[in-house]
Amino acid sequence: MLITTKKLLIAARAKKYAVPALNVNNLEMVKAIIGAAEKMRSPVIIQTSEGAIEYAGIEYLSALIRVAAAGKIPVAMHLDHGKNLEYVKMALKNGYTSVMFDGSTLDEKKNIEITKHVVKMARTYGASVEAEIGAIAGIEDFVSVEEKDAHLTNPEKALAFVRATGCDSLAVAIGTLHGAYKFKGETHLDIERLKKIAKLVKIPIVLHGASGVLEDVKALAEHHGAQLGKARGVLDIDIKQAIRHGVAKINIDTDLRLAFTAGIREAIDDLPRVIDPRKLLEPANLLMREVAMRKMKLFGSAGRI
Ligand code: G3H
Ligand code: 13P
Ligand code: ZN
Repeated sequence: MLITTKKLLIAARAKKYAVPALNVNNLEMVKAIIGAAEKMRSPVIIQTSEGAIEYAGIEYLSALIRVAAAGKIPVAMHLDHGKNLEYVKMALKNGYTSVMFDGSTLDEKKNIEITKHVVKMARTYGASVEAEIGAIAGIEDFVSVEEKDAHLTNPEKALAFVRATGCDSLAVAIGTLHGAYKFKGETHLDIERLKKIAKLVKIPIVLHGASGVLEDVKALAEHHGAQLGKARGVLDIDIKQAIRHGVAKINIDTDLRLAFTAGIREAIDDLPRVIDPRKLLEPANLLMREVAMRKMKLFGSAGRI
């Protein structure tokens, strides 16, 4: 059933698990995710970026997610990283149960002003709003403590932001990065900062850039020619700590992309004579389903239905 994101996340934060928020841009991804959720008895958030909407069209994507939500699994439909208000409006009109307004590149005043406006707009559709404060960036990119503080989420500012905007969940910057290349050496997540944020901010916290760049999927992709040698992702142990300290929604895109492309590379290599796209997509579908199931187990959302 299609469910409001707010409801899913409040339950998750209270019970200390996180709902996987998985990015999709085609039928295969949606089917793999809902297949995994059914198998794991896990709620799930299926989300689309502005780029995904541009690629596939919002009518197709929202229809696919609606079909996935027609069964017993609680599914929320979310706009990821909405930066352009036209996309936010489009998502709300197409029945998304939540939207993210990403004003992280704006100055604080402007971020608050537009987030407030989005919250007001979303309320008329019964949808909830995820907002972001701080710039999602890797800790190693900062040369000084002052610089790190200026980029990562400041706990007091986060509280003031939530109070001023009325947003329903908050994406924080604690050292994760989007994409496959997250860490140069050791993994660094600023868990102390997260603890301080969670003490003040009582709404569900969202972790972006959380892909683990799974070793076996990476190895498979590399075996078939992808160049990912130095790619390093977030460790499972850090994910578990983050969940313990208030993270209730975890965004994963890269790990699914790796699984999809590794599966395709494998099929193209193994089945050079096959021209049926359904057969060529089969390993990719299975691998994405496997990755989604692993996330559900790791995040503790498995078995919650
Ligand atoms: O966090 C961003 C997601 O990975 C979306 O990426 O804009 O390429 O669809 P995209
Ligand atoms: P990854 O690139 O680590 O999968 O992060 C995805 C994300 O944050 C989508 O909003
Ligand atoms: Zn993100």
